[in-house]
Amino acid sequence: MEKILILDFGGQYNQLIARRVREQQVYCEVHPGSMPLEEIRRFDPIGVIFTGGPHSVYLPDAPRPDPGVFSLGVPILGICYGCQLLAHLLGGEVTPAQDDAAREYGKTETRFETDCALFSGLPETSVTWMSHGDYLARVPEGFRPTARSAACPTAAICDEARRFYGVQFHPEVNHTEFGREMLRKFLYTVCGAHGEWTMADFRRRAVEAVREHVGAGRVLLALSGGVDSSVLAALLSEAVGEQLTCIFVDHGLLRKNEGDEVEAAFAGRKLNFHRVNAQSRFLDRLRGVTEPEEKRRAIGEEFIRVFEAEAHHIGAVDFLAQGTIYPDVIESGLGEAAVIKSHHNVGGLPDTVDFKEILEPLRMLFKDEVRDLGRALGLPESLVSRQPFPGPGLAIRVIGEVTAEKLALLREADAIFREEMASAGFDRTASQYFAVLTNLRSVGVMGDGRTYDYAVALRSVQTSDFMTADWSRLPYELMDRVSVRIVNEVSGVNRVLYDITSKPPATVEYE
Ligand code: XMP
Repeated sequence: MEKILILDFGGQYNQLIARRVREQQVYCEVHPGSMPLEEIRRFDPIGVIFTGGPHSVYLPDAPRPDPGVFSLGVPILGICYGCQLLAHLLGGEVTPAQDDAAREYGKTETRFETDCALFSGLPETSVTWMSHGDYLARVPEGFRPTARSAACPTAAICDEARRFYGVQFHPEVNHTEFGREMLRKFLYTVCGAHGEWTMADFRRRAVEAVREHVGAGRVLLALSGGVDSSVLAALLSEAVGEQLTCIFVDHGLLRKNEGDEVEAAFAGRKLNFHRVNAQSRFLDRLRGVTEPEEKRRAIGEEFIRVFEAEAHHIGAVDFLAQGTIYPDVIESGLGEAAVIKSHHNVGGLPDTVDFKEILEPLRMLFKDEVRDLGRALGLPESLVSRQPFPGPGLAIRVIGEVTAEKLALLREADAIFREEMASAGFDRTASQYFAVLTNLRSVGVMGDGRTYDYAVALRSVQTSDFMTADWSRLPYELMDRVSVRIVNEVSGVNRVLYDITSKPPATVEYE
């Protein structure tokens, strides 16, 4: 299969570059910038991308690629620091920008030479996203400048003979108007890609690979009902059928009907599906617990205990399957060691299960690809496009002590909010949205009577990485409908609040 190699020099957008390449149906992997030539040869890429990074190429400790990469005869695209690397290592000159004028940050109007393969067919002038303090003072021999901005006459360079291209700006971010098209031209025109990477194809190959690897072995999977573990369950079920056992611990902290929906999604498939209804165990364990981290700890420990008891019935297995995905792999040091997810409450599982090997068939996929794979495997859209849901579930959305009554109120209010969001089409644009049962009770009036009931807070955020988030600007009419319905339909709630704090200073969840 045709592959692009992304050599990572520590830039903040490196995962994004990989996602942009995969979106264009070309498989790629991110590896450390120092990857030895022998490994690069073995990887056998049709093209190489050098990422950005925080260093200065002229300093002695600046990370560099194996110089042999320049003699492989394979096209190279350098982005930002990667562009400066190309220039510096091939005889050009990179210097610190002497005055503020030559350092650029943000949206920058840029003029392009459209006879360069990267820019052909695109407008001569467009906006790019720059973020650099170093300056390419002299282009190396064989190269020519192919783009410039007011501050920088070398915003892009190329050497067509060797098929080396460099851009100072970031084509992978949305602020670069034609960034996707430029990457596409590198992939298809320069590297000659055909676009072989599809989820239908991945599915076929992954099923074969799992079958071959697992043989007659037994596989155990903790199914949380989240996207990753559900898609993994569907894939493994297709590959090894009843050799797969899924344990789905229903801790009673799921959203309305969620447990049944998960069960229904796997009803027609070949696998051993064990649903453990452990609601009362978890409620008992949570009695009197009010501190958020203590709640998380209690739920995590209880989960392990329930799972352990269940796994004990099943006995020794050969493989423990984990829904690790590519961002986990990249973030934890580029795939050297198996990554064990620490969230979704399965962090301690490997210690409690008797198994020989961890199986992670999704470890090279991005989240969007996992969703596409789920669709290819015929999972319902409601499961595949599910918004993120924390492992401790509604317990961290009930402020204070968690009780069955409070959970029931929250479930109803949350279901109404989600239903109205979906019918207004905001379920597709909001990154995460939910209701929270505050611990605040206040006076209201209903009919002729005084009420003293709970306030429900609604939270909806826009974010791409959940590290920062902005609150969603929802229409007043939508908020009004949700508020009227919640107060009318959920007895015990007499006030609805909308949260207009971003993260930071707030967090997405309340606990
Ligand atoms: P915060 O509240 O930290 O949330 O801004 C960021 C994202 O992480 C999710 N989250 C969790 N997920 N276990 C999880 O699996 C947890 O304990 C947990 N706490 C927060 C949250 O839903 C949001 O998507």
